[in-house]
Amino acid sequence: MSEKPWEGRFSEKTDTSVESFTSSIHIDKRLYKHDIEGSIAHCKMLAKVSVITEDESLLLIQGLSKIKRDIERGNFQFYDSLEDIHMHIEAALAQQVGKTAQKLHTARSRNDQVALDVRMYLRDEVTGIIKSLVELRKVIVDFAKLHMDVILPGYTHMQRAQPILLSHHLMAYYEMFSRDLERFKEGLKRINVMPLGSAALAGTTYPIDRDYTAKLLDFPKISTNSIDAVSDRDFIIEFLASASICMVHFSRISEELILWSSSEFGFIELSDAFSTGSSIMPQKKNPDVPELVRGKSGRVFGNLITLLTIMKSLPLAYNRDMQEDKEPLFETLDTLKACIDIYKKMLINKEVMKQATSTGFLNATDMADYLVTMGMPFRAAHNCAGKAVNYALNKNKELHELTLKELQTFSPLIKDDIFNALSTQHMIDRRKSFGGTSTENVTAAVRQAEKSLEEEIGYLKGDGNK
Ligand code: ARG
Repeated sequence: MSEKPWEGRFSEKTDTSVESFTSSIHIDKRLYKHDIEGSIAHCKMLAKVSVITEDESLLLIQGLSKIKRDIERGNFQFYDSLEDIHMHIEAALAQQVGKTAQKLHTARSRNDQVALDVRMYLRDEVTGIIKSLVELRKVIVDFAKLHMDVILPGYTHMQRAQPILLSHHLMAYYEMFSRDLERFKEGLKRINVMPLGSAALAGTTYPIDRDYTAKLLDFPKISTNSIDAVSDRDFIIEFLASASICMVHFSRISEELILWSSSEFGFIELSDAFSTGSSIMPQKKNPDVPELVRGKSGRVFGNLITLLTIMKSLPLAYNRDMQEDKEPLFETLDTLKACIDIYKKMLINKEVMKQATSTGFLNATDMADYLVTMGMPFRAAHNCAGKAVNYALNKNKELHELTLKELQTFSPLIKDDIFNALSTQHMIDRRKSFGGTSTENVTAAVRQAEKSLEEEIGYLKGDGNK
């Protein structure tokens, strides 16, 4: 099918193996909408500066709009020989409007065109991800609010450490996803720069109006260096890095849900709708969703490394290597969006939270703190509580199961009120330092998060995030 735009300079036909090797149409066809929008804006600009006539511009725009409809209706043929989406649309335009189609590419190269398309595409996708992360954070906050009374053992080194509120634990993820959201928003500023008009690499001789194109395409800024504009993929790398960090968070929460749903932990039971069974072991209920999310993080990290590696030795300006940027970008986008969506649904579906047992000497620090309030220096108190733990371990008991008499053998400072200090709820509620796990703090954190989400949701509804 079809002539190549560069045919004039060539005397031999492209080998078919080269056509299929260099073709990227199966990947970049998803840029069609943005490619067409970019071309329409380019046409309007060319007419405005009188490089083409108004009539020509209208004809081109009609043709482009028809192609968009055809693609959307599945009425469009893709061929390897036409390499990429840009050439497909140009060729289809020639069929639609004849010779005038040849004017569309005036003052433009595929190098600045592809940079424009990816920026527009990614801008839309990141805007969607930002919305979706706001919703996920809302689900987490609602969940935390609902389970304010559930106490879990907190861990360090995977050893039971101190009791915490489950809500406090979940709000830690709220914080992580809030930082992710900020990173995506921040990156959006650098995605949102209009490169068209840089042409192949050096700019163009035509009297183009780049600001006008930018205005039509809703870009707040145009690129300032044509060489950089066609060879910059930082904005993709940055997105892949932010996505990778976000996937670290998904992978960590997944790991916890997997552990917590095991009979060894027994803290939660995943809802049936989000678990699968085993084909051989009837008793099993497997946490496949969090396992797959954890597993998929590998691809996302890999995609970041892929793009860093592609870019690291490329001389300026455009090199064909850069065509390889799209597959990792699209895969990361698809994976990240899928993970956010499944988590929103899974958390709404609410796992059954069980009160975890209060065993494991979670109150040893509190015994030490109690002794400090009774006048003992902390180091000595720590030592004293350690001895009590050792004693209780030998007796196969918890600290609060020892008698007052037994406890007093470790220090005469110990009084009857120690049992209050060793109770789980008391331990939680005394951790009032800002950012700590007390019910009061966590309730305030949830309230604060609700307030900020309300503002964010209002802002998103006003579509003020561009
Ligand atoms: N398909 C190409 C890409 O994605 C478009 C740019 C091609 N430019 C060129 N000079 N061959 O990078």
